[in-house]
Amino acid sequence: MADLPTDDLKTLEAEGLAELAACTDEAQLRAWNSKFFGDKGAMKAAQAKLGSLPKDQKPAYGQEFNRVKVALESAYTAALAGKKEAALQASLTANPLDVTLPGRSRPRGRLHPATQILRQVYAIFADMGFQVYRTREVETEERNFDLLNMPAHHPARDMWDTFFTTTPGVVLRTHTSPGQIHVMRETCPKPVRVILPGMCYRNEAISTRSEIQFHQVEGLAIGEGITMADLKGTITAFARRMFGPDRQVRIRSSYFPFTEPSIEVDIDWPKDDPNRDRLTKGTGWLEIMGAGMVHPSVLRAGGYDPDRVTGFAFGMGPQRMLMLKHAIDDIRLFWQNDLRFLRQF
Ligand code: PHE
Repeated sequence: MADLPTDDLKTLEAEGLAELAACTDEAQLRAWNSKFFGDKGAMKAAQAKLGSLPKDQKPAYGQEFNRVKVALESAYTAALAGKKEAALQASLTANPLDVTLPGRSRPRGRLHPATQILRQVYAIFADMGFQVYRTREVETEERNFDLLNMPAHHPARDMWDTFFTTTPGVVLRTHTSPGQIHVMRETCPKPVRVILPGMCYRNEAISTRSEIQFHQVEGLAIGEGITMADLKGTITAFARRMFGPDRQVRIRSSYFPFTEPSIEVDIDWPKDDPNRDRLTKGTGWLEIMGAGMVHPSVLRAGGYDPDRVTGFAFGMGPQRMLMLKHAIDDIRLFWQNDLRFLRQF
């Protein structure tokens, strides 16, 4: 029996599959593809042969041609995909990628502990109806001293070691109390209930308990019938919320030229802290504020009539409060910007 033209196609298929199987990489596969499916490839030649066949052989040849074409094409596609996958696997084992490695974390900022405690102070006093009022850090000597009942010759000025500026009569405020004058003059004759936070400066010997710069929060309430009982109630309510119900509050009588009578308020240092004696000079207490009933001459300096209204004022140290809360043994840590300290808050 004479060879059928379709036998050539079967031979072509067998050759194609065998050569395909022998390809070892993608480049060889592509070369195979142009050999069989290129413009001058074997399949083109096989297709061209169709025209020269006698009519009765054409359908069978055409069908077989199509079958072989599909078979070779799909074998090629599969072989190509297999080689790509193998190449990927090889590169993965050659340069292993650890997908379990944790991502790089973004450094998170946080508020300075001084800002945190100030915000706590604002929140507690806001609940008691006190507004926040800001005043300047550079003050006139008159408002820092004279209008607070301390004329130039007054020995009480010695309580505040002052930084004078090169402009005569202008100082860095030694306390937030000059803010009392600003508020009173702006608010008179209406009642006052404010806190005045801000930085203060004193030319002091720097130690574990004293810095040349520190925050204060001043408080001022003025109105009819305000008494010492209101001051004590406000301070103890504040201390309860700031330090919790288990800490003790001690109120001592004291002296300030701008309050009469005057008091100072202490909180007990944490009992179990080994630095307790050193930081409280053996007393167990740390002072957090001075306070008192606003002196009649200060009320007058602010425009009020001391025969009609009374008021109380206090000035507290948030850094001291932070020390008491966390048993911090050195006030200098607050402005040293040591991240090992700051990150703890
Ligand atoms: N200004 C005082 C100080 O810095 C504190 C204080 C404020 C005392 C208000 C009484 C009234 O020491």
